[in-house]
Amino acid sequence: AERHPAAGRHVVITAGPTREPLDPVRYLSNHSSGKMGYALAEAAAALGARVTLISGPVTLATPAGVERLDVESAAEMHYAAQRLAGECDLFIGCAAVADYRAEQVAEHKIKKTDDDDGLTLRLVKNPDIIAAVATRADRPYVVGFAAETRDVERYARDKLTRKKLDMVVANDVSRAGLGFGADDNAALLLWRQGNREARRELPPQSKRDLARAILETALEAQAAPQNA
Ligand code: PMT
Repeated sequence: AERHPAAGRHVVITAGPTREPLDPVRYLSNHSSGKMGYALAEAAAALGARVTLISGPVTLATPAGVERLDVESAAEMHYAAQRLAGECDLFIGCAAVADYRAEQVAEHKIKKTDDDDGLTLRLVKNPDIIAAVATRADRPYVVGFAAETRDVERYARDKLTRKKLDMVVANDVSRAGLGFGADDNAALLLWRQGNREARRELPPQSKRDLARAILETALEAQAAPQNA
């Protein structure tokens, strides 16, 4: 195999969580550490690609040779993704994007009230970042992730179709030692090859090795003739 199979390609990767502000001191978020997305960025750079990493707030160092754009909210990630989507060859959505944000961000810190009624937050849907990339006329090859806790394959296939992805990387985030925050992960890759569905199961391994296998599969699938 070629040593730099991604040379000349521009790969854009989203990684990490998003933070959805509630007031000046609070936010809604999730447990994504950014490790999987950063491993993909590192692997893509090692394969010779030009890599832009759109990163939510994480504590990881930027991999060598990778250009990093820091964002906080899903709205900011969406804006950055749209700006880059038309000029890349491969887009990988590994970020754990918050599905909802507060309908209104309070200007001042939300105060605790004396009555014991609790607090109701009104949330509204965030834009679907990867679906918006996949519906562009000038779309790159689009690889999405699916974080599931049950019926992994069925929900992953549903995301592949509904979000118009070229490939989905499904991970079972309920398995101990894998997924969110862990150093290891496992995945089921599903993609269309002509009118057949192709699949590849990647057993538990380091996110570094998994990232390389995901990229190699995506680059091959992207290059394969679609009527094969
Ligand atoms: O960061 P780590 O700690 O290493 O953990 C890695 C991971 C578990 C976060 C990663 O492997 C993973 O599964 N990422 C996707 C997490 C997720 O939010 O999945 P989802 O099934 O909710 O979303 C499906 C796809 O749509 C994803 O590509 C996601 O980036 C994208 N999406 C979701 C919602 C939204 N508003 N916009 C999006 O683009």
